[in-house]
Amino acid sequence: ANLIINASISRPIPETLFGIFFEVSFLLSIQEFDSHLEINHAGAGGIWAELVSNRGFEAGGQNTPSNIAPWSIIGDQSSLTVSTDRSSCFERNKVALQMDVLCDSKGSNICPAGGVGIYNPGFWGMNIEQGKFYKVVLFVRSLGSINVSVSLTSSDGSKMLATANILDSDVSNWTKVEVLLEATGTNPNSRLQLTTSRKGVIWFDQVSAMPVDTYKGHGFRNELIEMLDDIKPQFIRFPGGCFIEGEWLRNAFRWKESIGPWEERPGHFGDVWMYWTDDGLGYFEFLQVGSSLEIRLAHSVSEEDIIYSYLFLQLAEDLGSRPIWVFNNGISHQDQVDTTTVLPFVQEALDGLEFARGDSNSKWGSVRAAMGHPEPFDLKYVAVGNEDCGKKNYRGNYLKFYNAIRSAYPDIKIISNCDGSSRSLDHPADYYDFHIYTSASNLFSMTHQFDRTSRTGPKAFVSEYAVTGKDAGTGSLLAALAEAGFLIGLEKNSDIVEMASYAPLFVNVNDRRWNPDAIVFNSSKHYGTPSYWVQKLFRESSGANLLDSKLQTNSSTLVASAITWQNSDGKTYLKIKIVNFGNSKVNLKVSIDGLGLSSQLSESTKTVLTSSNLMDENSFSDPKKVVPAQFMVENADKDMNVVLTPYSVTSFDLLT
Ligand code: AHR
Repeated sequence: ANLIINASISRPIPETLFGIFFEVSFLLSIQEFDSHLEINHAGAGGIWAELVSNRGFEAGGQNTPSNIAPWSIIGDQSSLTVSTDRSSCFERNKVALQMDVLCDSKGSNICPAGGVGIYNPGFWGMNIEQGKFYKVVLFVRSLGSINVSVSLTSSDGSKMLATANILDSDVSNWTKVEVLLEATGTNPNSRLQLTTSRKGVIWFDQVSAMPVDTYKGHGFRNELIEMLDDIKPQFIRFPGGCFIEGEWLRNAFRWKESIGPWEERPGHFGDVWMYWTDDGLGYFEFLQVGSSLEIRLAHSVSEEDIIYSYLFLQLAEDLGSRPIWVFNNGISHQDQVDTTTVLPFVQEALDGLEFARGDSNSKWGSVRAAMGHPEPFDLKYVAVGNEDCGKKNYRGNYLKFYNAIRSAYPDIKIISNCDGSSRSLDHPADYYDFHIYTSASNLFSMTHQFDRTSRTGPKAFVSEYAVTGKDAGTGSLLAALAEAGFLIGLEKNSDIVEMASYAPLFVNVNDRRWNPDAIVFNSSKHYGTPSYWVQKLFRESSGANLLDSKLQTNSSTLVASAITWQNSDGKTYLKIKIVNFGNSKVNLKVSIDGLGLSSQLSESTKTVLTSSNLMDENSFSDPKKVVPAQFMVENADKDMNVVLTPYSVTSFDLLT
């Protein structure tokens, strides 16, 4: 087979080509659905480093008795009773935990050794590491003086990892308490305990425990954010997905409920993925992630007051991504608002745009400014709904949104849910969504999906793609190779396909709601699936130059592309990516013209993603089983013979 590259024919690839889709919100747990229920726990128990699950005891909603799970009780009925009431100082989160301690350190009812109280195991165990510091913040009230131990312990409470006492004679009003703990041991399955041996009634609310060592001090788990940083996402589509639709409209994500102080967000029950979410990672935080500005996450590591106790974060600056906001268009999975009555939903979206982009004197811009962000966000893309195209009211509702947004914000790009790849849309749009979850052979053959798509009309946004089903395992090499073939097709069609993102991004193995996913983690470990590593092989493509390349072969299992890109030192590299989706090795003759290359190319490398078995996967015990391996290429040349391993993706990086 021959690969002929002619660099004199080239065109730029859009800067936006490869990004991420982040469908998540922070949650609390719902006991009746058996523990913690979120799509994959990408946020809570995921990138957010908060260790406590159900900080505000609101997992059962705003009614009492509420669901305090996964909080559990230390002690028996003779020593304490635990209940919930609506006495919190937080107006929109009124539920607080009430602990009636019946025993004491003296007298007839002596407390058991270690005291009685409550503990929280976090999200399937808190990862506590020796020598590291943890900040516990909580709100407490009691009619008498208190003596409460705040401790990090092993999962059964038998081994103390860190402890401190809260001694206060007057907490008759709600009082914020902060404690810094240094761990004397390591345990990825630890818990937080609040215990006492003093008789009396104590109320707790909004209990937080955060490691001090987070990504650049910004409140996120270092290693998970570094995984995102490494693939250089050019955009972040958020917050869904089905999440924005809801199974029923009454449960759909509402951006206005997800802004403002963390403690004041009412949260909602996401009925598609069947979990309660506290909306701590709300519209504001997503905008900050996406727009490369500083992030303020609402958690209590901050020294600021209760109302705006946000920690400034700089995560987005490091990711450098554009936000793409997907909003509800009056349509859920089960019910729809008629087009004649959809205007309040349109206004909701316009208000959301004003929150993001309005000046700080505008109604919603002033709310953003009050949250510490007077500058507008650089929000330039919105999607009207998710996967709603076939639904009765979609077109009518869409047009109402389109016209209103186009008139108020002419520069905003509007994304339709209707697929325009095989026929023209019957409504105006800047982009159309294209989602594909399919088998490996189908996705590989879809490398040609956009070859014949009309070049006039809206651009394509492949906002969700992945191999699913039995070919995928829980993240197989086979899936990744097919996805690499598909992505090569997107690169080659990037005059019409301007954006693409894999879905879903993260999974906490303790609650796998969707399979497969790009990044797998638990409380202390993580790894990228082969699909993640494929995305890394394509991270230089956005904004690169696509060169004309032709494969001369009878094989239908070979696809290739060639780009040139510049690294931060200004050096230009030629990157040739080839997927061999067949079971035989391939001898390929590569000829490169039009780059004025000398015959010997220095500093050249070859990166290969393959494994001995097509269904091989990474795992916590073998996280690097299927990862790209890099080799120096000694004899790189403008004309060279290369050998492609069966079932592999190979990237040649040649210094030009
Ligand atoms: O990525 C998971 C789900 O797949 C998304 O929520 C939805 O858009 C699609 O059906």
